[in-house]
Amino acid sequence: MYTKKQIVEVEIIDLGEKNQCFGRLDDGMGIFVQGTAAVGDTVRAEIFKIKKNYLVSRFHELIKPSPHRINPICRYFGLCGGCKWQHMEYTEQLRLKHKQVQDALKHIGGFHDLECDPCIPAPELFGYRNKMDFSFTDLRYLTTAEIDMEPNEHDKPFDFALGFHAPSCYAKAIDIDHCDLSPKEMNIALNAVRAFCLRHKEELPIYSTRSHTGELRNLVVRKGGNTGEFMVNLVTSTHNPKLMKVLCDELKSALGDRLTTFVNNITSAKHTVAFGEKEFVLHGPGYITDRLDGYTYRISANSFFQTNTTQAEKLYTLILKSAQLKPTDVVYDLFCGTGSISLFASGHCQKILGVELVESSVCDARENAKRNNVENCEFIQLDLKDIKWIENDMREFGAPDVIITDPPRAGMNPKAVKMLLKIAPPTIVYVSCNPASLARDGQMLCEEGKYKLVHCQPVDMFPQTNHVESVARFERV
Ligand SMILES: C[S@@+](CC[C@H](N)C(=O)[O-])C[C@H]1O[C@@H](n2cnc3c(N)ncnc32)[C@H](O)[C@@H]1O
Repeated sequence: MYTKKQIVEVEIIDLGEKNQCFGRLDDGMGIFVQGTAAVGDTVRAEIFKIKKNYLVSRFHELIKPSPHRINPICRYFGLCGGCKWQHMEYTEQLRLKHKQVQDALKHIGGFHDLECDPCIPAPELFGYRNKMDFSFTDLRYLTTAEIDMEPNEHDKPFDFALGFHAPSCYAKAIDIDHCDLSPKEMNIALNAVRAFCLRHKEELPIYSTRSHTGELRNLVVRKGGNTGEFMVNLVTSTHNPKLMKVLCDELKSALGDRLTTFVNNITSAKHTVAFGEKEFVLHGPGYITDRLDGYTYRISANSFFQTNTTQAEKLYTLILKSAQLKPTDVVYDLFCGTGSISLFASGHCQKILGVELVESSVCDARENAKRNNVENCEFIQLDLKDIKWIENDMREFGAPDVIITDPPRAGMNPKAVKMLLKIAPPTIVYVSCNPASLARDGQMLCEEGKYKLVHCQPVDMFPQTNHVESVARFERV
């Protein structure tokens, strides 16, 4: 009865998986709508997948806007995968973030009785990011209007882009010259690096993920939210000292004193993650510092640091509140990055063991403890999939009263969750940037009745996006 390419009219009533909108057609058939619809809109959508119980479609035309719809300010809205929610009022974004966490805990985790607290808002809705990662590709993403142009009408080359991967086609990138989530230095650096790379296209070709040849891979910029220190990190396949010196001079003249360090990371990896195997420092100390609640943190090019400084302070305060630390407590801070949670908690407990995979982060964490005169934190470099460490390190350090765990988006490896169950501390505080992973790992923690989830607090670290952070407290039964 339905056909592919058929256009149907539907009112959006909810958000579905993977940021798709959801509605029901007159006969009750469920339909997912991909693209820039909003809850409360009535839209026309084009069907492209037909399943027995539901349809999947693409947003085609807005018929009646939701009362929560606003005009997005970014010219790349709808193309770029970053700010998917710029067309929604902020109060609506917060409502949907809360609902996402609540729904995941209920439907994936089976936590039917837990009511999450309302999502804590962010004070800055734009320009809040302290890190941006732009990609180079030799396949520029063309808009529909550009596809229709004659070759001589194009004002940009087809084989050069520095910006964000197009969500609909990951191999291509949208060439952007401005991002509203970035502070202004980042946009200045982006355009200075683009101009330099276009001028030196022959000597510095773009790395191709198809042939695995070429040089330019990523541009990563970082700014200390509370210090203003600013880093430019160009990731390439090899180091060209002469050209990097020229780029360094151009960055200095574009940014003046605001540029505090410039590094060139090189990698031979075939994947596109902006992570260097070797680093060349061309200007400044090779790292920036940022401050959180009186603590100063050293952040190197490859180290993890929360990307919204103002909200990181709020998040860490919530983690402390959730952990309810006592002065005698032994704490483990798993997936500790540069040790920021450890330091934040160090004045509230007896001692902390931070565990982290990335060597430069562990070095930064140790350096951070030293520079803040914190003596009760130790950091070890370990892959948390490796459960053998428990016996040795626990014996040496002492069993924990509280474990704080803050894994990447994919959540914890099942072996690591089993390890938590084996260690069985009285309290586990799970910090998560992905409600589905939190719900899945939370369910595994609770399934044998050893733990219960007692509280969950969503926090907005990333306004205009569909991402939400949560702090969940599990207590041993
Ligand atoms: C979400 S970040 C949390 C960082 C830190 N808690 C903070 O607030 O700054 C996740 C961290 O987990 C680390 N990581 C990823 N996989 C890991 C693994 N298998 N074992 C240990 N650490 C890992 C990453 O390098 C990253 O620093």
